[in-house]
Amino acid sequence: MIIILDRELVDYEFEDIKNVIYLNIASSAIPPRCVKTAYFNYIENQIKTYGKTAISDGRRVLYSAKENIAKLINADPSEIGFVKNTAEGIGIIANGFPFKKGDNIIVCDQEFPSAILAWINLQHKGVEVRTVTFKEGNILIKDIVNRIDKNTKAVVISAVQFTTGFYIDLHHLGDVCRKNDILLIVDGIQAVGRLDIDVKKMNISYLACGGFKGLLSTFGVGFVYCDKSIVKDIIPLSASHLNTKYNYNPPQMDYDFSEIEWHEDSRRFEAGHLNYAGIAAINEASKLINRLGILEIERHIFELQKELISLINELPLKIMTPLKEENYSGIFSIYYPKEKDNEIKNIMDKYNIVATVHNGYIRLGINFYNTKEQIIKVAEAFKEMSKLV
Ligand SMILES: Cc1ncc(COP(=O)(O)O)c(C=O)c1O
Repeated sequence: MIIILDRELVDYEFEDIKNVIYLNIASSAIPPRCVKTAYFNYIENQIKTYGKTAISDGRRVLYSAKENIAKLINADPSEIGFVKNTAEGIGIIANGFPFKKGDNIIVCDQEFPSAILAWINLQHKGVEVRTVTFKEGNILIKDIVNRIDKNTKAVVISAVQFTTGFYIDLHHLGDVCRKNDILLIVDGIQAVGRLDIDVKKMNISYLACGGFKGLLSTFGVGFVYCDKSIVKDIIPLSASHLNTKYNYNPPQMDYDFSEIEWHEDSRRFEAGHLNYAGIAAINEASKLINRLGILEIERHIFELQKELISLINELPLKIMTPLKEENYSGIFSIYYPKEKDNEIKNIMDKYNIVATVHNGYIRLGINFYNTKEQIIKVAEAFKEMSKLV
């Protein structure tokens, strides 16, 4: 059954970007109306109730957000934990999982720092970091397979690469990891909310995702998904009232000084109170995405990417993104001569296009609120730019 994107709802929610062609989701989202309302309402209620319900409201919204995110990525709500950002999410497993001397981890060489630096940091424990080299914007699964040996413990990868928008086939990679009995650890921030990420079908062991891109929310809040089968192996860095089984009943505290009893699900990553306003934002955003339907969102994004490529393919532009449909993500980039920076930025402004334009490189991030008419305008802008290069 083909579901049709509810355009009226989308236009209502994204009124704030109706006067521009907003193509910067790979950088950050402009939150929709429901997200803005939920974020500010949380604080408003905290003030109005003199804080009486701030914690109970926060806990309620936290559990609701876990359900909505779990639905979006096909997980169980107990497998979702809230964190500050992607880096913190990846750091939790890098530092908390019992990786030991002699183990090796496979990463790709052009990744965003959060998918790489935590692993470089493990080298002091004797963990080896093995790199796979990008080839013209592609990562080949066979290159990953060639790096696997009996000491490989994990493959760490972004679902979508931040520079080129290259999407790696996570179903295939998940199968490779399953067959070799290794963890698949994913930085999901450039994919979740725009692409159909199914952590179970893709055999993803652990995924980290900040809230400010496809999750349409803001900074300082994100989530991790941790498969039930490995969660108890991870020892968090922080321990406090919310991620342990202590009987928290002040004024009399009842400590067992011999050991810590952690929660046995992803609550163990949430030591203390969290950014409940930010979580309220993610709750509404994931509700909206689920309501519109992630399959329909993905289909719409791919259609627009295909349209754009067909319109600009013949132009003399240096397209950086691999053009195979199986690697589409809606993120798309092009090089231009750095000395043309001002002229390129002027053309982007003239057409009201908001995208990343930086250092000889344009990155467009398509999302479900973009329309075919906008894509035609973007192609016109590129036609004009191509005369400069
Ligand atoms: C692939 C990728 N990972 C992570 C981030 C951001 O990480 P964090 O949520 O830790 O700020 C970005 C972009 O900002 C990104 O493109």
